Amino acid sequence: MTVAYTSDIHINSSAENSELVNAIRVRLAEIPPDIFILAGDISSSIADIRRAFEFFSDIPCIKLFVPGNHDIWTEDGITSDGKYFELLPRLCEEHGVHPLWMEPYPYGGTVFCGSMGWYDLSLRTHLVPFTDEDYAKKRYHLLTWMDKLRVRFHGGGRVLSDGELTDMLLERYIADCEKSAAKADRIISVFHHLPFREAVDYIGRPGWDYFSAFYGSARFGEYILSNPKISHIFCGHYHRKKSLDIPAPDTSGALSLFMSPFGYYEREGDKPFGEWIKKRLSILKI
Ligand SMILES: [Fe+2]
Repeated sequence: MTVAYTSDIHINSSAENSELVNAIRVRLAEIPPDIFILAGDISSSIADIRRAFEFFSDIPCIKLFVPGNHDIWTEDGITSDGKYFELLPRLCEEHGVHPLWMEPYPYGGTVFCGSMGWYDLSLRTHLVPFTDEDYAKKRYHLLTWMDKLRVRFHGGGRVLSDGELTDMLLERYIADCEKSAAKADRIISVFHHLPFREAVDYIGRPGWDYFSAFYGSARFGEYILSNPKISHIFCGHYHRKKSLDIPAPDTSGALSLFMSPFGYYEREGDKPFGEWIKKRLSILKI
């Protein structure tokens, strides 16, 4: 099958980012792939996400989406859990996009399973001695990790901690994989947040390494390595393009991880704009 994949289009961040939805639509219509994977972070605005889905609705392929942390930011009294469990699945349904975090997607002998994923400090740096108290602030010098102000994910009548949210999403992801395993020759997984430390660059610079604590959870990776049917992982969140093989204990096949985010055009985009589209909307035959 031919898979086109990307993430982090952040269409409310600049004029160029806003243009991505049309540029992606045009490019996908030219290819077209069997599957288009969008691994989170369209926008913190539901109206923007609706606009993106409207652009993608006539692309002749299967569209799989998982939300990113920006997609669940609170907005006009809408909670993060309200977006994750109600608003975003409804928008997907209305626009022919499959909400992969709500239900696996079978395609021949392959089953796609996905989750937004979250973070629990397990990807924190070992090169700089930050404390739990440092991370609780979600702030390094003048930089605030904005989930602190914009994520309110409720469960059991209260706001969940990052660890509790990770637990809940991991449990749901494992349940999806377990129920899919019997009918799948292989499982391909899609996350927004990262499941492996191998995907992160730790450089020992405090202003950079501090934020690695919010990139994902190694507990997702532990489960992935325990399930030999999981063959490919697509992620977003970390604004660097990468593909890498993860060493797996089971030797039946390599576990491959792919990231192809757009990020923020002004500081991360390939110039000119046409190059950015070519490089960050990636195609893979698997
Ligand atoms: Fe992002």
